[in-house]
Amino acid sequence: MPHPHPHPAPTGTAGDERGAIELRGIWKWFGDPSAPVLREISFRIPAGSFVSVIGASGCGKSTMLRMMGDLAQPSRGEVLTGGHPVSQARQAHEIGFVFQAANLCAWRSVRRNVELPLEAMKVGRAERRERALAELDRVGLAAAVNQYPAELSGGMAQRVAIARSLVTEPPIVLMDEPFGALDEITRDRLNLDLHEL
Ligand SMILES: Nc1ncnc2c1ncn2[C@@H]1O[C@H](COP(=O)(O)OP(=O)(O)OP(=O)(O)O)[C@@H](O)[C@H]1O
Ligand SMILES: [Mg+2]
Repeated sequence: MPHPHPHPAPTGTAGDERGAIELRGIWKWFGDPSAPVLREISFRIPAGSFVSVIGASGCGKSTMLRMMGDLAQPSRGEVLTGGHPVSQARQAHEIGFVFQAANLCAWRSVRRNVELPLEAMKVGRAERRERALAELDRVGLAAAVNQYPAELSGGMAQRVAIARSLVTEPPIVLMDEPFGALDEITRDRLNLDLHEL
């Protein structure tokens, strides 16, 4: 069973419920209700926290994360963000995702991949460009903005995926083993960079 350890931010996020996320009595089963993957999971993550979920393969981490992002529905129980159902937050583009595979659009440049969520939010062209470039600079990819996904290393592609998830400044970012497919040295470095970000 995954057991989260929230580390509340040192500075005042109290009162800002936007980034808080709460699981209430979550159960999940696939097919057979007598063999649930998750049973009775309840916890609350305060806004401004950085939380890692650790557990053996197959224990239900991805399943839980998907429900926290409204990508799957609990069999029983509910997920709330800022006191509202998590579906509202997802529809309002308030949740960023990063998965094990970068899932970039091969025909779009690095910059235009990062602009994609801003396009979905109808942000104007000049602002899109400016925000995508600023985000790519933050993840150390200023020199690669005009490259295409096929020209990137695995670590660079994951950085693009992270920039894409952060460019809308969502109050919640969910990451499922974002560096799991990379070699150990790159993974360690990106994990450190992620804390900086
Ligand atoms: N769509 C599905 N249909 C049926 N069973 C599923 C489905 N998704 C997940 N499961 C089962 O739920 C259990 C938990 O899977 P999950 O992917 O959440 O594990 P995990 O903790 O993320 O593992 P890993 O560390 O290997 O990524 C597994 O037994 C898996 O087979
Ligand atoms: Mg998983």
